[in-house]
Amino acid sequence: MANIEPAQVPVKGGTVAIRTARGGDAVGVIALNRHLTSWEFSLVELDETSGDVQELATEIEKAVSDPQHLRLVAIGGESIVGTLDFAAPGKRRIRHRGRFGIAIAAEWRGRGIGTALINAMISWARGHPHIEKIRLGVLAKNTRAIALYERLGFAEEARRAGEFVLGDGTYCDDVMMCMWVKPRGG
Ligand SMILES: CC(C)(COP(=O)(O)OP(=O)(O)OC[C@H]1O[C@@H](n2cnc3c(N)ncnc32)[C@H](O)[C@@H]1OP(=O)(O)O)[C@@H](O)C(=O)NCCC(=O)NCCS
Repeated sequence: MANIEPAQVPVKGGTVAIRTARGGDAVGVIALNRHLTSWEFSLVELDETSGDVQELATEIEKAVSDPQHLRLVAIGGESIVGTLDFAAPGKRRIRHRGRFGIAIAAEWRGRGIGTALINAMISWARGHPHIEKIRLGVLAKNTRAIALYERLGFAEEARRAGEFVLGDGTYCDDVMMCMWVKPRGG
């Protein structure tokens, strides 16, 4: 089971709780996703997000019972203000690497919540029997997010040209970044 010890984390202007997501968080996660679709770097548009609470609750419960999957939420006040979703395959030749996505509600950004979620994932990965490499993909124009990932130890390993078409019709590269969380073998 992919799980972390719940923690109260000090962030700029207060404290947030960081814990493993549970099925009951589905409503809050959907609300956060809907709020995020208005944001310029979102990869999906509002009518492309699933609003099915039961479907998401089942997906979250499945993640919690999958040792290769970590799903975290950050709670500010009474609401879910951030999510992080990491998944790695189970097959032996590829189970050492996985990928994550992260999003923080607009009004909660820049307070250290993204950093806290990513650090929680990294410490979980360091204690994991298989995970060695964490990777992510980010729009090339999302320079602030790239700066954050570099500060946390991620480095660019590849770039795919024109992977995204943005609302204004322009194309944007996908920057693939990674971090080895344990001494690298082979
Ligand atoms: C990128 C993101 C996850 C970072 O989380 P966060 O909680 O804002 O990050 P932290 O407060 O821990 O760290 C702050 C740093 O995040 C980066 N950052 C990226 N986008 C930011 C934003 N919109 N507002 C504030 N900080 C942002 C900056 O590097 C900032 O450092 P700075 O203050 O020196 O500029 C968050 O801003 C977010 O959800 N953005 C929109 C969705 C997104 O870009 N997801 C990542 C796709 S790969």
